[in-house]
Amino acid sequence: MSAPASSALDVHPLCLGGNVFGWTADDAASFAVLDRYTGAGGNFVDTADVYSAWVPGHEGGESEAVIGRWLAQRGGADGVQIATKVGMNAASGFHNLKPETVTAACDASLERLGVERIDLYYAHRDDTDVPLEESLGAFDALVKAGKVAHIGVSNVPPDRLREMVAVTKAEGYAPIAALQPAYNLLDRAGFEDELQAICAENDIACVPYYGLAMGFLTGKYTQESVAADIDSPRAKGAIKTYAGNERTWVTLDALRVIAAERSVPVAAVALAWLHGRDTVLAPIASARTVEQLDDLLPFVGLELTADEVAALDAASAA
Ligand SMILES: NC(=O)c1ccc[n+]([C@@H]2O[C@H](COP(=O)([O-])OP(=O)(O)OC[C@H]3O[C@@H](n4cnc5c(N)ncnc54)[C@H](OP(=O)(O)O)[C@@H]3O)[C@@H](O)[C@H]2O)c1
Repeated sequence: MSAPASSALDVHPLCLGGNVFGWTADDAASFAVLDRYTGAGGNFVDTADVYSAWVPGHEGGESEAVIGRWLAQRGGADGVQIATKVGMNAASGFHNLKPETVTAACDASLERLGVERIDLYYAHRDDTDVPLEESLGAFDALVKAGKVAHIGVSNVPPDRLREMVAVTKAEGYAPIAALQPAYNLLDRAGFEDELQAICAENDIACVPYYGLAMGFLTGKYTQESVAADIDSPRAKGAIKTYAGNERTWVTLDALRVIAAERSVPVAAVALAWLHGRDTVLAPIASARTVEQLDDLLPFVGLELTADEVAALDAASAA
C-alpha cells in the first residue's frame, strides 16, 4: 500500500525517542526502557545534543550521556543504531550549523555516547545564515571521516529540503537519508502537503517525531481530564497543544474503536497508522517506563485494514 521508505537505513519499525532519558526518566528507568526495547528486537534510538537542556541545571547532552552509560554497561552498541542531532544547543554554543559547530558538536556527541560512529546525524533545524554548501559540506566530511554513517535533516520547510537535495547532488555530498518532521494523526498537513512527495522522489526516509502527539495518542487524555489529573510532567503543554481541537477527540474515538476490536492499546493503533504512511520508515515515540513501552511495541506487525485506515483518515481530517 505505502511507498517504501529510504533504502539506506535498515532499522526496527519503532525508533525509541530519547528525550526522556535524563529528563522524565533517570538512569535506572532509562536503562530499563532501553533493555526492554532492545530485548524486543529494537535497534534504533533517537537523541540530540540538546536533550535535556530545558531542565534547570542541565546544559544538554544528558540524554546522550545516559545512552552512553547504558551502552558501556552492556559492552558496546552491538547493532544498536544511534541517531543524534546538532544545531539547537545554545548552552554549548552549538546553536547553528556552521562547519566548525557541526564538527565540534559531533565530536562531543561521540564522546558522550562512547561510540566511534554516529549511525544517523541530523541537522536539528535549518540555518539560513550558513550557505548549504558549507553546512552540508561539514556533514559530508564527517561521513568521509567515518564518524557518521548517514545524514538527516529535521524541521525544514519543503523549499529548503529541495535546495538541500540539490546541493548534495551538485556537490557530490553524501545524500540526505532521513527527514525528521513532526508528524502524527493529529499533525498531518505539515508533512503530507509537500514534504512527503519530496521524500518519495529522493529516497529520503521519514522518521516522524511526536508519533504519539506528546502522549495524546495513547488515549490517556480525555475531554474531562485537566492537567492535574494526568501523571505526566508534560501534561500542561500537551493539553494546550491538542485539547482545544474537536478533531483530537474525534480521532481518539476512532482509535479507541479499532483498539478495542483488535485488543491492542490505543497507542499501538496510532503508531501502526503512522508506520503505514508513504515514506515513513519508523515512527519515533518515547516511553519513560517499561509499562509505557509495552503499550507501544504491539504496533510492530499490526497491519491495519483499508477500512481501519480510512476511518482514521476521515476522523483525523474532520
Ligand atoms: N526533531 C525534533 O525537533 C524533535 C522534537 C521533539 C521530539 N523529538 C524526538 O521524538 C521523540 C518523541 O517525542 P516525544 O517523546 O516528545 O513525544 P511522543 O513520542 O509523541 O510522546 C511520548 C510521551 O508519551 C507518553 N507515553 C508514551 N507511552 C505511553 C503510554 N503507553 N501510556 C501513557 N503515556 C505514554 C510519555 O510521556 P509522559 O508519560 O510524560 O506523558 C512519553 O514520553 C523524542 O524522544 C525525541 O527523540 C524530536
